[in-house]
Amino acid sequence: MNYIGISAGFHDAGISVISDNGNILFAGHSERYSKKKHDPDLCEGIIKDALSYATYNYELHYYEKPWLKAFRQFRAGQPMISLSAKKIIGPELCDLLGDKPITTHSHHKSHAAAGFQTSPFDHATVVIIDAIGELDCISIWDACYDKNGTAHYTKLWSKKYPNSIGLFYSAMTQRVGLKPNEEEYILMGMAAYGKPKHANRMVSHYLENLFDLDFRHNLHIGLEPNNFLQQAEDMDIASSAQLVCETLIEKVMHKAFRLGSSKNLVYGGGVALNCLANRLLGKYFNNIWIMPNPGDAGNSLGAAALGYGRKINWTDAFLGHDIKGPYPVDKIIKELKKNKMVGVANGRAEFGPRALGNRSLLADPRGPEIKDKVNEIKRRQKFRPFAPIILEEHVDNYFDMPAGFSNSRYMQVIARCRHPDFFPAIVHHDNTSRVQTVAKDGSGIRQLLEAWYEKTGCPMLLNTSLNIRGEPMVNDRMDADRFEKLYNLKVIS
Ligand SMILES: [Fe+2]
Repeated sequence: MNYIGISAGFHDAGISVISDNGNILFAGHSERYSKKKHDPDLCEGIIKDALSYATYNYELHYYEKPWLKAFRQFRAGQPMISLSAKKIIGPELCDLLGDKPITTHSHHKSHAAAGFQTSPFDHATVVIIDAIGELDCISIWDACYDKNGTAHYTKLWSKKYPNSIGLFYSAMTQRVGLKPNEEEYILMGMAAYGKPKHANRMVSHYLENLFDLDFRHNLHIGLEPNNFLQQAEDMDIASSAQLVCETLIEKVMHKAFRLGSSKNLVYGGGVALNCLANRLLGKYFNNIWIMPNPGDAGNSLGAAALGYGRKINWTDAFLGHDIKGPYPVDKIIKELKKNKMVGVANGRAEFGPRALGNRSLLADPRGPEIKDKVNEIKRRQKFRPFAPIILEEHVDNYFDMPAGFSNSRYMQVIARCRHPDFFPAIVHHDNTSRVQTVAKDGSGIRQLLEAWYEKTGCPMLLNTSLNIRGEPMVNDRMDADRFEKLYNLKVIS
């Protein structure tokens, strides 16, 4: 039996396939096939690709309980989406999936399973923080395996809609003119440029009870008209929102530390993508696991994991569409030496929002001019730095990793750069970097970094996602060719 997990109907639809011995056969994002960023719906392309990996008969598992979500929408006076997963996915796509019954799981439990069952732990305290599940917006769980290896989840505490850290951060994202539910990472990047001068007022105005995370307002509908931030500078709003968000996350982590019986933390939900706030987790937990796709797209894996029910054999995040062929190490090095930057589209696409080396634009991180050069292609806000990708055994020579993190294989956390003057392109305004470390795992990107280090003495590269502006990350060879033509930058497969 195979287990197919589906997340669809809100944002970032995805599919995952797990085999009967716990291997992840496929995990991908619909947007990479439909070319619609954050596509909430599945499409034919991803279903066909996923099914090509399903080796046996399969069960279908959906990442939330539609009727529970519809109940919340009805209560909040919103239009209800649907009471059934089949209707959300659509009849034609359900036919493609074999018109089977679909088992539904709770949204936060799917997040918990995506994290715990991929983690190295046999027992963990699980914290889920997102915008909204069906009703839960924050939850704390105890997760363990019994003697037969079956995963068990006990909910220890939860906070229900509209008391939501994610909705607070999304409302602030919208307030500075960015897209809520999509561009929270830009608000996080802006935080370093402002002063948190509105943080105290945000807390007193929006929170009834800081310790118990009771909100006064339903921020699902954005900030109230004529709110007190009318005249505030965007960068100060970002800085204040980040500080409030971190304060609230710390309240949750402190609760989890007290309630949980394990000092291993599994952290999931969209808020776990806030890598700036994640530097604080080590204050409460010794060992930390954040799955590379902790948001709703990653919940397809959580639903499949709940169907499978046991520990998953986690190896890496390269789980999507396959561009076959050996990783082109020599060609990439040659191009980096010649032009200082190059695109790579090889192997299986990353599961999660971050390019980790298989759909990446790579560049020599040394010197002052490379940031502008890469930005000519990416054309993103100038204040945003690019990320470094580094051989894991060298990370401590270049970065001060925060407590609880000896590595950051999926860019889950920021670290202070020890030599910001040498690497201005990968360092933020506050001298931190969103580091990706690469273990001795024999992967293509590992081989490339080793070869680059041998040739230059520099163990890192600049790494940013390979995508045409406004589009999702490159998925297949055709996308890679389009990128090459449009930007006149060599993309090597
Ligand atoms: Fe979620």
